[in-house]
Amino acid sequence: MEKYPGKINTAVFISGRGSNLKSLIKYSKKKNSLIKIILVISNNPDAEGLKYASRSKIKIYRNKNKSNFENESLKLLKKYNIDLICLAGFMKILSGNFIKKFSKPILNIHPSLLPKYKGLNTNERAIKNKDRFAGASIHKVTEKLDSGKVILQKKVKILKSDNVRSLEKKVLKIEHEIYPKGIDKFLTNL
Ligand code: GRF
Repeated sequence: MEKYPGKINTAVFISGRGSNLKSLIKYSKKKNSLIKIILVISNNPDAEGLKYASRSKIKIYRNKNKSNFENESLKLLKKYNIDLICLAGFMKILSGNFIKKFSKPILNIHPSLLPKYKGLNTNERAIKNKDRFAGASIHKVTEKLDSGKVILQKKVKILKSDNVRSLEKKVLKIEHEIYPKGIDKFLTNL
């Protein structure tokens, strides 16, 4: 933590509903939270989640232009002195070039017990494989999709009565709980 005295300037990247963004905004407003959300970036101009950002008067940048998204985002990250990026339901894969140029930590929330089920349709695959547990993981973002160091995980039991929708709901609840905890854990161990 010595590296970053005070609250850490954070940008959250989203693409859709934004329920994780909502939980991060709630957490960031707590007195003893370690982050301050300065900027929300979306590659989907119509992302539902943007309304949470505007309600909280957080700067928003929307850009669905594939070719300049990363460069324009990098400029803003620099302009606002962002030291941490949290991906929250961000459905675009960031390039190695972006990760290198940003050069500060990027975290992601993934709806599975990594290293199981990288990529999409995680809960569907867990049910199909008759897994006993599903869950969520907070991990560092590297060039390799969903493969960076896991910071925090929590599991949930898959019941016989569960379907993809009910499981997604349970996992999402866990996501909202562990993202702030994962950030705390990550930042206090820097
Ligand atoms: C979450 O399950 C997240 O883990 C996944 O996409 C979903 C986004 O939900 N990558 P929300 O936009 O945060 O509500």
